[in-house]
Amino acid sequence: MKLNRRLIVSLLGGVAAVSSIFAIYQAREEMHALKVALDRQARLLAESQRLPVEQILQAGKTQDLHALTDRYQNQGQLAGMAVYDSKGQPLAITTGLETRLGATPEAVTSALRTGQSRRTFFRAVRDDLHIYVLPLRTDAGTVGAIAIFHNVDYLTVPIWRHAIFSVAQTLLIVLMTLLIVRWSMGKPLRHLALWLRDLRVGDPAAAKLPKDELFGPLTTEAKSLASSLHMARAAAEEEARLRDASLSLWTAERLRISMQRKLGTSRLFAVSNREPYEHVHQGNTIACKVPPSGLVTALEPVLRACDGTWIAQATGDADRETADEHGRLRVPPDHQQYSLRRVWLSKQEEDGFYFGFANEGLWPLCHIAHTRPIFRTEDWNHYQTVNRKFAEAVCEEMEGEHEPFVLVQDYHFALLPRMLKERRPDARIALFWHIPWPNPEAFGICPWQRELLDGMLGADLIGFHIQAHCNNFLATVERALESRIDHAHFSVNRQDHLTSVRPFPISVAFNGNGHNAALDPAAERSRLLHQFGVHAEFMGVGVDRVDYTKGIPERFRGVERLMELYPDYREKLTFVQIGAPSRTFIKRYQDLMAEVEGEAERINRRFQTGSWKPIVFLKRHHSHEEIQPYYRAADFCMVTALHDGMNLVAKEFVGARADEQGSLILSRFTGASHELADALIVNPYDTDELAHAMHAALTMPADEQRIRMARMRAVVKERNVYRWAGSLIGELAGVRLETAPRTISEQPPRRPQVVARAARLAG
Ligand code: G6P
Repeated sequence: MKLNRRLIVSLLGGVAAVSSIFAIYQAREEMHALKVALDRQARLLAESQRLPVEQILQAGKTQDLHALTDRYQNQGQLAGMAVYDSKGQPLAITTGLETRLGATPEAVTSALRTGQSRRTFFRAVRDDLHIYVLPLRTDAGTVGAIAIFHNVDYLTVPIWRHAIFSVAQTLLIVLMTLLIVRWSMGKPLRHLALWLRDLRVGDPAAAKLPKDELFGPLTTEAKSLASSLHMARAAAEEEARLRDASLSLWTAERLRISMQRKLGTSRLFAVSNREPYEHVHQGNTIACKVPPSGLVTALEPVLRACDGTWIAQATGDADRETADEHGRLRVPPDHQQYSLRRVWLSKQEEDGFYFGFANEGLWPLCHIAHTRPIFRTEDWNHYQTVNRKFAEAVCEEMEGEHEPFVLVQDYHFALLPRMLKERRPDARIALFWHIPWPNPEAFGICPWQRELLDGMLGADLIGFHIQAHCNNFLATVERALESRIDHAHFSVNRQDHLTSVRPFPISVAFNGNGHNAALDPAAERSRLLHQFGVHAEFMGVGVDRVDYTKGIPERFRGVERLMELYPDYREKLTFVQIGAPSRTFIKRYQDLMAEVEGEAERINRRFQTGSWKPIVFLKRHHSHEEIQPYYRAADFCMVTALHDGMNLVAKEFVGARADEQGSLILSRFTGASHELADALIVNPYDTDELAHAMHAALTMPADEQRIRMARMRAVVKERNVYRWAGSLIGELAGVRLETAPRTISEQPPRRPQVVARAARLAG
């Protein structure tokens, strides 16, 4: 590293200035200390001579005074001593000092006059001296004085000595600094430069990040910059490749461009209960977490692509500290691409709205999984209040926006579309229902089904994962509400407002991870299991929120049955269940957690030997990055949901298997089973079938695994989340609004019915 002249000159200048200031200050301090010491020494000496001098004077033996004053002849800095009478005439002076002094010093006459001691520097005949005068006082008054004289030449330190010291110090400091800079920064900077070059020319994931705390923040920033560059390059290459192959695959880039075109000048707003980033206190720091939610995984790329605003409930205990006074912040934290607006609920609101009506009422109502829905009037009241609160927040965010696009998410907000449409008829509103829709009889047990349906039909577009759920919804509306249903076009006309109902199968990003040939799944399996002290040849994996719709106890009983039917798998197969605790304040979920843990323990106790057990239950939320190694190393992934709108775990597993190996065992009651026909499709209630499916997965020839996995990957690749978002927004953009175009500030929002009536009158 070459150190440039400017650095050296500024270092020299700066250090010299600081060093000189300190040298001057230090010299002054030193001088002051010496003067204080000199005063003290002179005073003590004068005091010590007071008694002998007084005795001599009383005895009238003035000649003895000469012996006394001569005792202090040439003693170091001490120049001598003198005794004066009351008139200021010297009675005795140290030999040789008299000629240096000349006349009686002024300090002596002053001390005799005032009766007070005096100390001062003064100019004697040839040189400077310090004098301390102690008056001798009796009852009759001041009878004389003792004066102590010191040489003061030692007090004047030559300035050149300070200058030399200062220059030497400056040079030393500058030299040391330059050497330190060269040693401590030169090497890391060289590494950093090489690393940046590797990043620029290669894969950011492959480049080895130098471990240096000094440049830690810089390397982190550079890494994310390089990552964006790499992604942009990959997207451009992919686009070019697709153009070349005349394929039309949805990518993040294509979604971005398509959304720009479809949104035009409009902005996009998404509403969900679950927020994409939650801030929580961890000791003295604040951590940012991504909660376990398929909805969050799916929606994030959309918001990133169009820099929209996501409105969601604030659930982290450090959420307030990390947002502004309106609850707004930019996310993701390390690469800000869109806005998050947090909405705070009171404890009662959260209990009634989220735990109560949404998760004890609507969730079990829509999932046919044998858990009874609970409908409490107070929960319903909170559900309405919170929907209204969100409507308020969304309207605030949309203020001043022309024809905004709103994506309302899930069963938490069935009433929101109507509330929004009434206030903003110019908004294009879609409601995506992430969970199944049951048949009209099942839904009909809800005491507020009409209100819910009416709220939903405020949307211009309602999306479900599969056509069967759309059909169930239309049948439910037909039964419960007055409306016209167009079965040919899958739409509902209620009070002159048209709502289209369409399937949009949600998916994952499918980043097309290249196959890492260096990864040995067998070695990876034993590495992963080794962490839990388990040794096994085969590994199955399951990843879920611990929810009764996911069929986790059923899955464990399937593993148990496998051990009974195929004892050869004992000591050979371990099933790892990653289970994120969920909705833990609800009793049914607490019971389920106890059941899942109990079943795992029971089955393990039954078969466990030495360093092997059939089930490892990891009761904690794992990040996407933590889960990936399990997906890549597993012999099979098991999804046994008793009822699921889609199930993204199935698609994530397929997306992770770039080696085209491994099998997917998939419940036929998931939306995903409609697309992934090459999975081993099972009925999770049939324990024997689960056991046989595991055996089939473990004995499936590599070629067959490859054929099945390749076909499933092709499906997930093509029907990825960008396509989901692209088609949902495309459909929404095609909606004909029932309002005449207007300037928001000019006209107050009108109810759609009013608009329709006005249109009829005009027509
Ligand atoms: C399902 C729902 C989502 C929800 C997720 C996690 O996927 O469709 O709306 O966010 O479960 O559940 P939680 O209650 O923790 O948000």
